[in-house]
Amino acid sequence: MITKIKTSKKLILLLTLMVSFSLAGTALAGIPDPVKQDLLEKGKKVYFKRCVWCHGVEGAGDGPAAERLFTKPRNFLAGTFKIRVTDSGQLPTDADLVKTVKNGLPGSAMPAWGEFLKEDEILAVVQFVKSLVEDRDFNDVEDEEVDTMEFGSNPWGTTAPYHLGIPQEAIDAGKEIFIKNKCFECHGGEGRGDGNPTMKDDWGFPIVAADWQQCWNWRGSRRNHFDPFNVVRTVSTGLNGTPMPNFREKITVEDRWKLAAFVNSLCPRKKMDKLTSKPIPDFLISSVYTEGDIAEKIDDPMWQSSDNDPKIVPRSEEDAMKPRINYIALAGQITRGNRNFKPKVDNLYVSSRWNKDKGIYYLVEYHSRFLSSDPEFPDAVAIQWPAKLQDLFGAEKPYFIMGDSKKPVDIWKASFMAKDYVSTNAPKEAGYQLDVTVEESNGLGFDALTVKDSEPNVKVVDSIFHQGRVKILFHRSLTTDGDMDIQIPAEKFIPIAFFQWSGDDKEKDEHMAISTWYYTILEPPLPDSLYYMPPIMAVVFVGLQGWLVWMTKRTRKMYADGKVKRDERPF
Ligand code: HEC
Ligand code: HEC
Repeated sequence: MITKIKTSKKLILLLTLMVSFSLAGTALAGIPDPVKQDLLEKGKKVYFKRCVWCHGVEGAGDGPAAERLFTKPRNFLAGTFKIRVTDSGQLPTDADLVKTVKNGLPGSAMPAWGEFLKEDEILAVVQFVKSLVEDRDFNDVEDEEVDTMEFGSNPWGTTAPYHLGIPQEAIDAGKEIFIKNKCFECHGGEGRGDGNPTMKDDWGFPIVAADWQQCWNWRGSRRNHFDPFNVVRTVSTGLNGTPMPNFREKITVEDRWKLAAFVNSLCPRKKMDKLTSKPIPDFLISSVYTEGDIAEKIDDPMWQSSDNDPKIVPRSEEDAMKPRINYIALAGQITRGNRNFKPKVDNLYVSSRWNKDKGIYYLVEYHSRFLSSDPEFPDAVAIQWPAKLQDLFGAEKPYFIMGDSKKPVDIWKASFMAKDYVSTNAPKEAGYQLDVTVEESNGLGFDALTVKDSEPNVKVVDSIFHQGRVKILFHRSLTTDGDMDIQIPAEKFIPIAFFQWSGDDKEKDEHMAISTWYYTILEPPLPDSLYYMPPIMAVVFVGLQGWLVWMTKRTRKMYADGKVKRDERPF
């Protein structure tokens, strides 16, 4: 009796083993979720209210707002969907599409609809989207198969929201897998997406690889930006319609998690804004008082710091003395010219040092996969100050784009071209030196911008373009004898704003990325925790949050309401 039970148990075990072997790599073969006919009417209503502006009447991705968007709204006709748990080339599940509509596709214009639509509306609009597909058929039980991929499970548990504490050995092993599988050919040596400038998607539009150091701009981040699962899913399933392949056969499930640990470790830990799903800007740029000489070389340890928020990833004692790298949010300038302008660069990193004898230094850095090789469209970045700080009362500031007639601004602009650079050349280990021209100008409004004819007081003392990161080190003395130059005081909150132009994307003049006013302060020689004035910080913070929320809401509302009128002036 006992032996009999044992034999049947063995049989069952054997059977289970055989089944699981035959499924290695893939699991759960099945048929697509059919279109839920009873929800179509409701879904259609939502679609024509919310989605048609971008995706078009027939779902061909040709709505009125589509024209100027980089990463065009999806053409649904072919039934190609990027973010899925199903195998390459297959249709997505309902759960995939619901997550996409809820969380949006970061880094593209596709908004997160979770706050605007109810669960049942989302499920309904997903059914309607499925009904727009022409070349495939979600109801075709004979021909359409879906295999939900095998993802294993997170070996380190989760430490959301930042997923820290993954052992260094796993990250190092992941790096080996990254090198072996040549992810760098598209994603670049340091993961900034700068590997291949000539890719096209299945719809014939140019496409670039994801920047791993900006995981908040990944289509599939699902608003859980630091979750290694996002990488495992992408590597297991590929992104349909794009050159991003799956590595299902090349990399074991176990190794995919290690690879994910490495990719994930590259993305700086920043506090995220729930609404914009991007890092909360660092609203105060503290310039660190520096005794003696300030290094004028960007690769000096003095300027080596981390993009992480030091409150999330504590720094070493030595690094704690270094300036913090601040995240500055940029948005497209759309008060003039066309309203759908979306800049390629959406943030800068800024750090600063100063002392009385040497003056002040700002290191401005940003990610740009490729630079311009057309002298008519140089890349450029600028710092804007109130020209007459001494005349401003309290929190008064000039208009944030180029000032106004009563409150002029002082602008330091560095325009540059990389030397001996062609974007299709293999990346240069040492990076590219830049040919920089500095121009100082005063603005009394957009149409009242004058370049100063005096020799610029501002200098760019060092600069480089390396692996998709631009670094420009600005220097000026604290005071000058120009009466339209900012005279920089110590220990005072000073408004500061930034502009940036991507030459490779033909940005020029009013086509530029802008920030709102931030604040900078020259820290006193001795750290004095008391001087951080909480009330002022709170005001600044609320102001900036308000701006971001407002920019996001405005853009969404424009599309949601279909009010995309070009001559409107929102400011
Ligand atoms: C402001 C423009 C805009 C609006 C409005 C918009 N979308 Fe999108 N949508 C996009 C863009 C752009 C993409 C393509 C992004 C990409 O390919 O990386 C996209 C892609 C998609 C995808 C493809 C997802 C995938 O995995 O490939 C789905 C599904 C989708 N949108 C559904 C919707 C629904 C449903 C609505 C209305 C509730 C909507 N969209 C409204 C811009 C928009
Ligand atoms: C042939 C070029 C190519 C190779 C090789 C490649 N990728 Fe990609 N990858 C892309 C492109 C293109 C995108 C962006 C697609 C888009 O924006 O829709 C992308 C996007 C991604 C994303 C972001 C996914 C998301 O949610 O938006 C991750 C993560 C990623 N790749 C990981 C990897 C890893 C890991 C490897 C190596 C094992 C790799 N890729 C190899 C082209 C490539």
